[in-house]
Amino acid sequence: MRVLSGIQPSGSLHIGNYFGMMRPMIAYQETSELYCFIVNYHAMTSVTDRDQLARGTIEAALDFLALGLDPEKAIFWVQSDVPEVTELTWILNNVTPVGLLLRAHSYKDKIAQGISPYHGLLSYPVLMAADILLYQSERIPVGQDQQQHLEIARDIAIKFNHTFGETFVIPEAEINPDIPTVVGIDGQKMSKSYNNTIDIFASEKQLQRNIGSIVTDSTPVADPKDPDKCNLFAIISLFLDEAEKSELAEQYRRGGLKYSDVKKELFARIWEYFGGAREKRQQLAADPEHVRKILDAGAVKARAKALPTLQLVRERVGLKY
Ligand code: ADP
Ligand code: TRP
Repeated sequence: MRVLSGIQPSGSLHIGNYFGMMRPMIAYQETSELYCFIVNYHAMTSVTDRDQLARGTIEAALDFLALGLDPEKAIFWVQSDVPEVTELTWILNNVTPVGLLLRAHSYKDKIAQGISPYHGLLSYPVLMAADILLYQSERIPVGQDQQQHLEIARDIAIKFNHTFGETFVIPEAEINPDIPTVVGIDGQKMSKSYNNTIDIFASEKQLQRNIGSIVTDSTPVADPKDPDKCNLFAIISLFLDEAEKSELAEQYRRGGLKYSDVKKELFARIWEYFGGAREKRQQLAADPEHVRKILDAGAVKARAKALPTLQLVRERVGLKY
């Protein structure tokens, strides 16, 4: 099976990205043909600072490699190193109704936040569809928030196949049913745009500060508490096995539990969980040239996979004359 997913290099990666998308995706390198890439064209819809985009791209690559992505097992590259995806985007624009894009939640949310309605932002899902279809991807592991974008990609593929003849595989989203959405320190969805994240590679101090800011209620220590209504419980659960989770839930219900103790435990768990990756990241960061070479080699492999599809598409639509 061909599995593909990508992430924008537009800020530090957080545990929502990790549990929602990176971990399930990286696991596929053992069993499937995995395509993993850093979507820097997409990040241009929010990042206008050149250095920030360039640095963010290398940082995201370091994150993936440190967290276990193996470039020997997966194809790992930067989106703009296979610029043919923009040609496919243009072609797909012609089977994409504007109304479909105007209905996208992500677009509407961004406009509601006061972000300027540039064409790039509106056509973001078309570029994402091109990413997916160019590699004839079958399975796309993402968090819940990307579900609509995946539906748009499917609609575009179906419309294209219908108009020009069978060309694209129809992709399917894979959303982890156990962890569709990781909550942030304020109880909303964890997202870098809400400033409520716990970053995977935060420094010790920053991590302590983040965890200290997790919002809890003001139930007195002695009283029973409801674990199912507590974001601290939801977050720490990501790092507990089933038995530990039931034991902690029991302590909540029994009363006498101090949120500050749970926060200390959460800090220890996160620090330990990502300890190996943190070390590996430091080693990789010392040699950015090595990382660039990995990405260059990945782009060569990705392009070789993309070109036959693009040739077929050009033929189907009449660009070959
Ligand atoms: P952010 O919302 O922080 O900007 P992105 O949109 O860059 O994150 O998301 C990258 C990937 O991580 C996507 O597949 C997305 O669905 C997933 N993801 C992001 N936030 C969460 C979350 N809180 N819970 C689960 N998955 C998430
Ligand atoms: N839109 C996705 C996000 O913000 C990133 C993305 C771009 C993507 N192209 C993709 C994800 C293709 C999966 C497949 O998270």
